[in-house]
Amino acid sequence: MDTSIIPWFEPWIDEDDVEAVRRQVAKGYVNEGQANREFEDILTTYFNVPYAITTPSCTTALALSLMALGVKQGDSVLVPDITFIGTASAVRLAGAEPILVDVDPRTFTMDPGHAAKRLRTNTRGIIPVHLNGRSADLPALKSLASAKGLFIVEDAAEALASRNRNGYLGAQSDAGCFSFAPTKIITCGQGGFILTHNGKTRDTLIRLKDHGRLSRASDLHPVTGYNFKVTDMQGALAISQWKKLNQRIARSIQIDALYRSQLNDIPDITFTARNMDGGYLMWPDLMTSRRNELVIHLKECGITPRPFWPAIHSQPAYADTSQFPGADEVSRKACWLPCSPNISDEQVLRVTQTIRDFFIR
Ligand SMILES: Cc1ncc(COP(=O)(O)O)c(C=O)c1O
Repeated sequence: MDTSIIPWFEPWIDEDDVEAVRRQVAKGYVNEGQANREFEDILTTYFNVPYAITTPSCTTALALSLMALGVKQGDSVLVPDITFIGTASAVRLAGAEPILVDVDPRTFTMDPGHAAKRLRTNTRGIIPVHLNGRSADLPALKSLASAKGLFIVEDAAEALASRNRNGYLGAQSDAGCFSFAPTKIITCGQGGFILTHNGKTRDTLIRLKDHGRLSRASDLHPVTGYNFKVTDMQGALAISQWKKLNQRIARSIQIDALYRSQLNDIPDITFTARNMDGGYLMWPDLMTSRRNELVIHLKECGITPRPFWPAIHSQPAYADTSQFPGADEVSRKACWLPCSPNISDEQVLRVTQTIRDFFIR
């Protein structure tokens, strides 16, 4: 019996990537420069959005976007109760307070009805999260935002190249933020970017990320800024990884389909609708009432799934005693299955057989 470890996710860096970074370092230019500009051009062309700004991560992309949209101390911003902690911590980084909103357990994304109830007088905006490639309910959230004069910043960290009927997720609001952390479909170590249609927002973002400079390389600082630049080593790696995006998306779709086809007859497993018009789930997921037992069983067999995060309201740093039944359910029942870009069909079948053995023994 094969007992080798199947990890939940491992990044895939190939020789082309290594060579791209080597060449960049050999040029002697390692600060943010031409490689980042070239990558931003790739992004604006792909998304058909006028401005893309690279950032060190999605957390910093979100925080910078909030700052650029005028968020300040004493403000609040709505975020879903099920998301990676970085969505909430970005709000604090911008000096404001995240207000948690329940999620719809059928889509794993922010419940617009609950969002309306959670608004406060100091609420300035909403961060819908397109969780695992699934589209948040942007039409409903946008109509809430426009009725109340709020901005929308999309957290598309897990939705690179996923779409709804209006186009690419992350390209449909005041700003959209993405991640190239090592568990994403492509990576540059750490990294991210912001998309915006607004030239003024773009100018503010550029100053915020580079010490408030009047222009790149200037020593005049009319406004406060920080250092959220991205090295050209990361830029070169991102350009190289970008070339594999379509191939990786195609493989992700196959892996997800294989999991579903092998497990869809098990009564205690629910596969949540993909809820997108084109795209893919970054990480195949399932829900089961026996999630914790299943995770233990898989780990005993050398397989490492990843349970969904605890709901944010249960995290000590963001404790909130309000009721979040949708988030509690998702957090209790959902987990992601192993899905490294180079996982083989045989490995997926070993995972599915191990899951079948658990439910049908
Ligand atoms: C939904 C979501 N938002 C934000 C982040 C933060 O991204 P980063 O790790 O690039 O800061 C992540 C990262 O994993 C994420 O999954």
